[in-house]
Amino acid sequence: MTSAPHPTGTHAVCPGSFDPPTLGHLDVIGRAAGLFDRLTVAVLVNPDKRGMFALDERLELLRQTTGHLPNVDVDTFRGLLVDYCRANGIAAIVKGLRAVSDFDYELQMAQMNHGLTGVDTLFMPTSPTFSFLSSSLVKQVATYGGDVSAHLSAEVYAALTARLAEQRDGGL
Ligand code: PNS
Repeated sequence: MTSAPHPTGTHAVCPGSFDPPTLGHLDVIGRAAGLFDRLTVAVLVNPDKRGMFALDERLELLRQTTGHLPNVDVDTFRGLLVDYCRANGIAAIVKGLRAVSDFDYELQMAQMNHGLTGVDTLFMPTSPTFSFLSSSLVKQVATYGGDVSAHLSAEVYAALTARLAEQRDGGL
C-alpha cells in the first residue's frame, strides 16, 4: 500500500481572531499542543475590522497565556489560511467546535481549505464548560457590567477591564 508523503513534522495551526482569547480558546490550544510536535496560534490580520484589542495586544495576551506550553508559538497571518499553512509546512488546522451550530460553517471552511491545497482540518470539541463561550459574548457582557472573570485568564481579564475603563474615560 502506498501512502501520501508526510508533510514536515507534526506542525498544526490554531487560527482565529482572538479578540480577546478566552478560556475556551486556551482549552483547545492546550489540548492541541499535546497532540502535535509544534502548534502555532495564528491571529488573522484583518485591516477591515477594528477589534477591541489591537493585533499586538492580542499577540501579547496569547504569548502570556500560552507561555507555559513549550511547543506553542504565536504568529500572525494575512490573506488565506491555506497559504500560511503552505508557507510554513503546516499539516493540519485545528478548530474548536462548541456546538452543532459551529459545525456548518466550519465544515464549509474545512472542505474549501482542503480543496484549495489539501490541508486537513481537525475539529476538537471544546470542553462543555466552555461550550457557550465566545469572545464577542464576553465583550458584550463585560461592556454592560457583567462579571466575565470566570471565562478569561487573569491576564486577559485585567486587559479587558483596563480597556473598558479607558473606553469609559474616553467617552466622558
Ligand atoms: O476566530 P474566528 O474569527 O472565528 O477565526 C476565523 C478564521 C480567522 C480562522 C477564518 O476567518 C480564516 O481562516 N480567515 C482567513 C481567510 C481565509 O483563509 N478564508 C477562507 C476560509 S475557507
